[in-house]
Amino acid sequence: MATNRTFTMLKPDAVEKGYIGPILEKINAAGFKIVAMKMTRLTTAGAEEFYKIHKDQPFFGDLVKYMTCGPIVAAILEKENAVEDFRVLIGATNPADAAEGTIRKLYAESIGNNAIHGSDSDENAAIESAFHFSGREVFSGKFF
Ligand code: TYD
Repeated sequence: MATNRTFTMLKPDAVEKGYIGPILEKINAAGFKIVAMKMTRLTTAGAEEFYKIHKDQPFFGDLVKYMTCGPIVAAILEKENAVEDFRVLIGATNPADAAEGTIRKLYAESIGNNAIHGSDSDENAAIESAFHFSGREVFSGKFF
């Protein structure tokens, strides 16, 4: 059964260009609830760990350099069918292939600098969330 959480990062290019606000608006408008969020910066070791599945890819070095070049915004999002619906909202990895209205179509520069991350499975959403947040930093249920 699909869980109701996914993990996202607004990547350094999106933060640098002032797109935090517009991207969060789209995330909210699509029905996701932010249950954890922080601005942070990945270390080289952290980015290598986060993206270790790609360590043998030719783009790995550039990916690590890009993901560590400035601050990111990490967040955990809640919604029914969160992982799948969020992948639809962000669009294809390469913004040139992304559907109209998706976050990458609107805000990404290139396949390398593609503005936003979204977990690709429930299992990875849990691993990636735990990478960035402790249990005390995740807020669930009704706030008031
Ligand atoms: P991937 O997990 O395939 O894409 P997604 O972020 O859509 O899940 O790749 C991780 C990141 O690696 C991707 O967001 C950008 C970078 N990347 C490249 O720079 N070049 C490439 O050819 C690919 C496939 C990914």
